Amino acid sequence: MFDANRITHFSEKETPFYYYDLDLLKRTLDAAKRASTKFGFHVHYALKANFNDRVLGFIREAGFGADCVSGNEVKKAVEVGFNPDQIVFAGVGKSDKEISHALSCNIFAFNVESIQELRIIDELAGAAGKKGQVALRINPNVDAQTHHYITTGLDENKFGIAHWELGEAIEVLRQCQHIELIGIHFHIGSQITDLNVFKSLCVKVNELNNWFDDRGFRLRVLNVGGGLGVDYHHPDTAPIPDFQSYFAVFAEFLERKPGQDVHFELGRALVSQSGSLVSRVLYVKNGIKKDFLILDAGMTELMRPALYQAYHKIENLTAAYSNSTVQVHYDVVGPICESSDCFGKEVLLPQSKRGDLIAIRTAGAYGEVMASRYNLRDEIRYVYSDELIR
Ligand code: LLP
Repeated sequence: MFDANRITHFSEKETPFYYYDLDLLKRTLDAAKRASTKFGFHVHYALKANFNDRVLGFIREAGFGADCVSGNEVKKAVEVGFNPDQIVFAGVGKSDKEISHALSCNIFAFNVESIQELRIIDELAGAAGKKGQVALRINPNVDAQTHHYITTGLDENKFGIAHWELGEAIEVLRQCQHIELIGIHFHIGSQITDLNVFKSLCVKVNELNNWFDDRGFRLRVLNVGGGLGVDYHHPDTAPIPDFQSYFAVFAEFLERKPGQDVHFELGRALVSQSGSLVSRVLYVKNGIKKDFLILDAGMTELMRPALYQAYHKIENLTAAYSNSTVQVHYDVVGPICESSDCFGKEVLLPQSKRGDLIAIRTAGAYGEVMASRYNLRDEIRYVYSDELIR
């Protein structure tokens, strides 16, 4: 919950906007850094979760690397000062232009998602007189027990190289002169809250690590991806994910060979809780079956509820500091011409009125970055916590 002072500042701003609590962001990053460093692990931040310049600045300063999924993300990471030696590039469909650009930036590694891609990187690296470092993204067929749209490590998913293709992959690697295999990479899904899933991942990684070793490949890096979930229900009481327990699973179950580094690619867990979407009630509509709160923010600003039926806690900031005790169930919706433009159904809130400020919490990851201009909406605005200190 935001303090009264902050809400007064919000009320002076044009809505909707993303609000970033930079102090919480910093505390989250510190906690992640402390927990990962304790086990000697390296974290590359997944830019796709949030590439807001100021947010990225904090992440870079905290000493994380960057995990990118497009040429533009690589470009952005370099521009904001991430060390190229700490940039990795994943994605099933890297274009030739993107690969050549990443090679010219001397990034640390490509997380390669198909055998065809290995050959293309080799060809482009050869033409550029470079040697590309590659990690094979392997589809481990581990169920992440999360929403099927954000599950990536099952045989039915498009990501990574299937285990039955690995024999061919190492033959190709032996032929390619301009690439060097440095490791293996996995990412099984996002918003994973059951740590047992990561234990299952470790078992697969260990098997594959041995498989490569048996064939004479000495891997330097085991990259286990991201996926750590956050508590969307308790943004105030659980604002910082339990990084310690998460990394401890890998420390216990991953069998590293001498000299091997372990890399992670966290996105959501580092940035979610420090972002909120702040909006105003435009209209309160009393329907026959339901009451609606119509906000000035919609699925164009935060797409997760419409796309994945994702839960985000919704709060009426204005009513929180009034004496009203009347509670009403509302369907909280946006102004976009789609029935899926709904942030929550039957949400119990204090009785609300036009002009009330509404916060949609835990929106720092996959919020601003997934915004669209559908219905020719305004470009997204944002407010940082340090702008509010007077
Ligand atoms: N590494 C790779 C290769 C990935 O594909 C992803 C996310 C990550 C790392 C970071 O995962 P995280 O730590 O954030 O879970 N738009 C969806 C989430 C899509 C995640 C895609 N990949 C959502 O709003 O829930």
